[in-house]
Amino acid sequence: MTPNDAVYTAAVIGVGKAGSDSGTRAGGFRIGYTHAETFQRNPRVRLTACADVNGDNLRAFMERFHVSQGFSDYETMLREAKPDIVSIGTYVGLHRPMIEKAAEAGVRGILCEKPFVASPADLKAVQRAAQTTGVKIVVAHIRRYLPAFARARELYNDGTVGRPMMCVAGIQGWDLSEWGSHWLDMFRFFHNDQPVKWVFGQLRVRGGRGFGHAMEDHGVAYFEFEDGGKAVLDGGSGLNGDVTMALLGTAGSIRVLGEDTLIIQNAMGQREERFAANQFGGMARAWDCLLNDLIAWMDGGDAPMLGLPNVSKSAELNLAAYISAVRGDRVDLPLNDDTDEWPVEILARRHARSSEHE
Ligand SMILES: NC(=O)c1ccc[n+]([C@@H]2O[C@H](COP(=O)([O-])OP(=O)(O)OC[C@H]3O[C@@H](n4cnc5c(N)ncnc54)[C@H](O)[C@@H]3O)[C@@H](O)[C@H]2O)c1
Repeated sequence: MTPNDAVYTAAVIGVGKAGSDSGTRAGGFRIGYTHAETFQRNPRVRLTACADVNGDNLRAFMERFHVSQGFSDYETMLREAKPDIVSIGTYVGLHRPMIEKAAEAGVRGILCEKPFVASPADLKAVQRAAQTTGVKIVVAHIRRYLPAFARARELYNDGTVGRPMMCVAGIQGWDLSEWGSHWLDMFRFFHNDQPVKWVFGQLRVRGGRGFGHAMEDHGVAYFEFEDGGKAVLDGGSGLNGDVTMALLGTAGSIRVLGEDTLIIQNAMGQREERFAANQFGGMARAWDCLLNDLIAWMDGGDAPMLGLPNVSKSAELNLAAYISAVRGDRVDLPLNDDTDEWPVEILARRHARSSEHE
């Protein structure tokens, strides 16, 4: 057991594109900066090292965060800097080897970006690595900490809108994983992380790519929870009225506007609840919550809601929707599949072959 004032050293792998102000499908959100800011706000953590294959990105980050140990190769960084915690801010295809190498090197806590892993085989591999080494892994589905979503979950489960029936969200211009993985995780959150029974996924895949992988132009995931509540995520097209998502109950509804306003409708009428970012502390506070949960787990506490035992189910759901599209069939969970590549690549190859024959 670690005394709860012990300081953990931390390193960022994949620091983020230098000089980038806004992200696109080609990356550039430089989420590594957000990880670094989170580490530097926390009195229990000291950011001591970083690694990135791109020299410009590495130098800009080292200067911005006053980090003296920078490495072009993350494995050398793991050996020489020996951090207690690493964050992984690279694209999904690199997560598995980075987690495995970090776990082997004795890292005790990992904050990994979403989408978490690139294939069912990768998911099993990171679970094995965690089991063998005891490394604690959390995934950055930080919206779970935002008060509007926590309140929506409470209202969806306390009878305010009857029994949970259907959650629906649409994401204009994004896919089921780079953005959609947040909402798949959120729908599990609204259902108190109960098991998903099955998922249907369908994708329109053309030549699109983003974040180093094939990316669908349009995708849909439709699934059912153990208690009969259902959810549908439209990746590619938003909902009318700028509604972020709607939670439909047997006796009313909750609409989420932006990420801070709820419109609740039931037999009593309609009311609005707003959760101002400045009262909670905004996204930065959500990141602080995630890091504090990781630290508490590393200190000997229970696995948090975004710890691997629970969050791996969100990754499984995401992958199962893709595998459903590959198989052209409903996929029942737990996922029984050994695919070892990003499933959208399989559909992209299929599309390329069928285009050749046209
Ligand atoms: N949790 C969130 O809210 C959130 C927000 C934005 C982005 N993201 C996720 O973060 C991930 C990164 O996106 P981004 O836009 O910040 O990326 P980015 O393009 O800004 O940065 C990626 C960095 O990884 C580095 N890199 C690539 N290969 C590497 C390797 N082998 N070793 C070390 N470094 C390597 C690149 O040089 C670059 O600096 C994506 O998966 C994205 O979905 C999450």
